[in-house]
Amino acid sequence: MPKAWVRERKKEHYYRKAKQEKYRSRAIYKLLQAAKKYRFIKPGDVVVDLGAAPGGWLQACRKIVGSKGFILGVDLKQIQPLDSPNVRTIIDDVTAPNVAQHVREFLPRPADVVVSDVSPNVSGVWELDHARQIDLARYSLQIAISILKPKGNFFVKVFQGEALDNFVKEARQHFTSVKMIKPKASRARSAERYVLGIGLG
Ligand SMILES: C[S@@+](CC[C@H](N)C(=O)[O-])C[C@H]1O[C@@H](n2cnc3c(N)ncnc32)[C@H](O)[C@@H]1O
Repeated sequence: MPKAWVRERKKEHYYRKAKQEKYRSRAIYKLLQAAKKYRFIKPGDVVVDLGAAPGGWLQACRKIVGSKGFILGVDLKQIQPLDSPNVRTIIDDVTAPNVAQHVREFLPRPADVVVSDVSPNVSGVWELDHARQIDLARYSLQIAISILKPKGNFFVKVFQGEALDNFVKEARQHFTSVKMIKPKASRARSAERYVLGIGLG
């Protein structure tokens, strides 16, 4: 079976699955697969989801934290409310200077986990898209450091490229363990990866 064909089918598989299961994005499976394998979100956790629209990851987090946890979604865009009292959303920009303080005002306590799927609008110019993605990942890291509890966890989207190594080195200065992850639901041909930081030090 040609590899490209298998990958195409996989892409369709997650797209169709999300539609059938009434999830807001196929991206939900990336977080569910990573969280299942690495167990960085637990029932009862307070989770902040950066770049949360349209809300697939909010649905994933809600499934994992259950009714005793709390989730705050942050995006430039308005997010259609979820039918769950412990999921809230705000409009904000992760690059804004006071965003961490704004987020903290909505949390019942310091966050256990920060997840970030923030992405720029892709231009198609590879170097530019890579640089912007790493830039946004860096903003997410700064927010995570300032709102996580000690030993909290961080999961963030990056694109492979020359600036990635330095970003991983920065993350290593703050977390006990840092891993690079490619969930099955992430398209094989995409340069997308996720960096997982466990245990804010
Ligand atoms: C790939 S989507 C996230 C999909 C989401 N994880 C889901 O499962 O539904 C990326 C999001 O990042 C948001 N975004 C991009 N730049 C942002 C910024 N500076 N601040 C906040 N959100 C941003 C976009 O508006 C977009 O909704």
